[in-house]
Amino acid sequence: MATAVCPGSFDPVTYGHIDIIKRAAKIFDKVIVAVLVNMEKKPWFTLEERTDLLRKVTADIPNVEIAGFDGLLVDFAAKHDASVIVKGLRAVSDFEYEFQMALTNSKLNHRIETMFLTTSAENMYLSSSIVKQVGLLGGDISPFVPECVRDEILIRINQRSKLK
Ligand code: PNS
Repeated sequence: MATAVCPGSFDPVTYGHIDIIKRAAKIFDKVIVAVLVNMEKKPWFTLEERTDLLRKVTADIPNVEIAGFDGLLVDFAAKHDASVIVKGLRAVSDFEYEFQMALTNSKLNHRIETMFLTTSAENMYLSSSIVKQVGLLGGDISPFVPECVRDEILIRINQRSKLK
């Protein structure tokens, strides 16, 4: 049985992530979506909130599981007997960063391979940060995220404006 890990910070999950998760779920017997810590980002959502949202929006995909983890991605993969890491690759901007992570992970555990799925054309520009920025500036974020995610982003934006 081939198990793959789809890692990310998912702060929060967008239609771009969901597309990659769905496509990975067609290739592998089991896909574990790992919600991890990216030390370079300051998240809006806790690990638990991010995993909860992912559970809601992937509930219709039977071979997908969601888990949170605050350690190394390769340790998470080994613990779950996953031999492949699947990541979505957007335009050129992602390449260097993803390449660096893939090589680091391979050095840490050479038994785990990283595979990239090219993002769908309609999600080429999409990122959680862009969605939060559009929301903060009053734009409509419903084309980018499911309704339950949009609601949670708007709650955070309201809380932020009250703190000002
Ligand atoms: O969605 P992101 O923020 O691009 O995902 C990056 C993530 C969370 C996959 C990466 O930061 C990660 O793997 N974090 C876990 C810690 C780790 O293993 N670091 C070394 C790999 S470079």
